[in-house]
Amino acid sequence: MRIILLGSPGSGKGTQAQFITEKYGIPQISTGDMLRAAVRAGTPLGVEAKKVMDAGGLVSDNIILGLIKERIAQADCANGFLLDGFPRTIAQAEGLEAMGVIIDTVIEIVVEDEEIVKRMAGRRVHLASGRTYHIEYNPPKTAGLDDVTGEALVQRDDDKEETVRKRLGVYHELTKPLVNYYSASGKDVHFGSITGVGTVDEITQKVFAILA
Ligand code: AP5
Ligand code: ZN
Repeated sequence: MRIILLGSPGSGKGTQAQFITEKYGIPQISTGDMLRAAVRAGTPLGVEAKKVMDAGGLVSDNIILGLIKERIAQADCANGFLLDGFPRTIAQAEGLEAMGVIIDTVIEIVVEDEEIVKRMAGRRVHLASGRTYHIEYNPPKTAGLDDVTGEALVQRDDDKEETVRKRLGVYHELTKPLVNYYSASGKDVHFGSITGVGTVDEITQKVFAILA
């Protein structure tokens, strides 16, 4: 099963990804998590990517396609994978196709911009795993600590309101066109669009209904 999760920043892609990967036994491939790992490791890619991410822009298509090509060649991707935050431009979608990857299902999660801005202020993440919480809507068992490791949760550097608004603008301009790209007749993928407003559990049930 090869799945793409599409949706604006903060729509809940990462939150839902963990339920999908558990149920279907496929890895989550989040280009955002991969870039944040490079930033933490201080690699040349990480240093470059940090500037772009903190400004709310997109890392270049060539760099991202290189990361994806290397990742999907790994053994754990043999039976499928869940792409979270990729592709993000038409050029990335075309690059994925050029690698010969056949996508089964694309799920779009839709949330209004103003709701996103409210959500991001309360987001907390466990950077090493990518696990995501919200101080009010999806709190960890112990405030400030990851449920699995007990390590500290942090706020992402790109979750400042000004940066979130910039990222939303980039989403509408460059990523939203992928909805038409994948739902166009002639594209042999199952496309489903759902609202991302409701409890985390309600959204998971909608996601599973599309995948069933
Ligand atoms: P990336 O990490 O992919 O960020 P994003 O797409 O902007 O999405 P987010 O991770 O912010 O949100 P999400 O949809 O995963 O929501 P979450 O589940 O956390 O990318 C970061 C940056 O890296 C980009 O800006 C770009 O610079 C670069 N990059 C990455 N991929 C790239 C690519 N392919 N090409 C070029 N550049 C790339 O949920 C958000 C919050 O809401 C959480 O607090 C959560 O607990 C809460 N929440 C979740 N569900 C609900 C609910 N139902 N109700 C209430 N709250 C909820
Ligand atoms: Zn995410």
